[in-house]
Amino acid sequence: MKKTKKRILSGIQPSGHLHLGNYFGMMSKMIEYQNQDDLFCFIADFHALTANPDPKILSSNTYNAVCDFIALGLSPDNTTFWVQSDVPEVTELAWILSSFTNIGSMDRSTTYKDKISKGIKPNMGLYSYPILMAADILLFNANIVPVGKDQKQHIEIARDIANKFNARYGRVFILPEPEIVEKTQLIPGVDGKKMSKSYNNTIPIFGKEDVIRKNVMSIKTDTTPINQPKNKDSTLFYLYCLFSNDSEKLILSKKYDAPGLRYGDVKSELFQKIMDYFAPYREKRALLQSKPDDIKDILNFGAKKAKLIASQTLDQIRAVIGLGVANEL
Ligand code: TRP
Repeated sequence: MKKTKKRILSGIQPSGHLHLGNYFGMMSKMIEYQNQDDLFCFIADFHALTANPDPKILSSNTYNAVCDFIALGLSPDNTTFWVQSDVPEVTELAWILSSFTNIGSMDRSTTYKDKISKGIKPNMGLYSYPILMAADILLFNANIVPVGKDQKQHIEIARDIANKFNARYGRVFILPEPEIVEKTQLIPGVDGKKMSKSYNNTIPIFGKEDVIRKNVMSIKTDTTPINQPKNKDSTLFYLYCLFSNDSEKLILSKKYDAPGLRYGDVKSELFQKIMDYFAPYREKRALLQSKPDDIKDILNFGAKKAKLIASQTLDQIRAVIGLGVANEL
């Protein structure tokens, strides 16, 4: 019997230059799914709008995110890959779902509370962000949603909304399961805090070579004297291991245990490893960037595939809840 593939869906906000934390946290994992699962992946520009970005920056971030994904190996043929706002059906579903969402659950959203505590004046988009995210997931009947830990509550909200809807109208929605990508929390930036654009501690993947070198060389290390063994529980050791096989890890580990290791040497090696690892992707990225027409074709193709499913789900939902007069004709 043919096993049906699981549908995996995730969205990524377009947020500027891609760094090691994005790649090892979420993107590489997403790209792996395409081999055995039915992958749905989109660039969440409607969500990015809640921060009121500059229009030029929003659209160039979206374009860059698309190029990044494709350069890193996402296949537009083997997956459904689109820009969220190219399939605006999702906003209709978000509106419908908002009538099945308790205000209390929005008030309890920790990402929302975090933003407010940082002094951000919330708009309605930010407030109902989890409803749009629920619509993203439910519109495409996703089984599994890989997300970072900070997004887990949003998946629970999507399940609550789906349950409430199903209780009233029958089994319309599939209940999505979160798959928590633990690694996202762990990729440290050059200062040892979580790698994040907002901390300004990133190592970019497609940045200029001298910027990558400068950032790698600025990785914070301790002041253990050169003639003493070094602490392996450190950012530099961790990042080096991301680019090493077992025997390379063992060699580095022995060097850390013995006197004589210079952090500067490890950093230079790490820089070279990063450049080697991403070289083919950087090449592909540069080529794509110069072919906006190809990118447009890829996105039209993706939006078409996504729209087909979105409109089927929406037709069904409209009929079930009694929108329009279709049932009476
Ligand atoms: N909120 C997610 C983030 O910031 C992005 C996102 C939007 C998403 N819609 C989604 C993730 C649907 C998974 C499923 O990371």
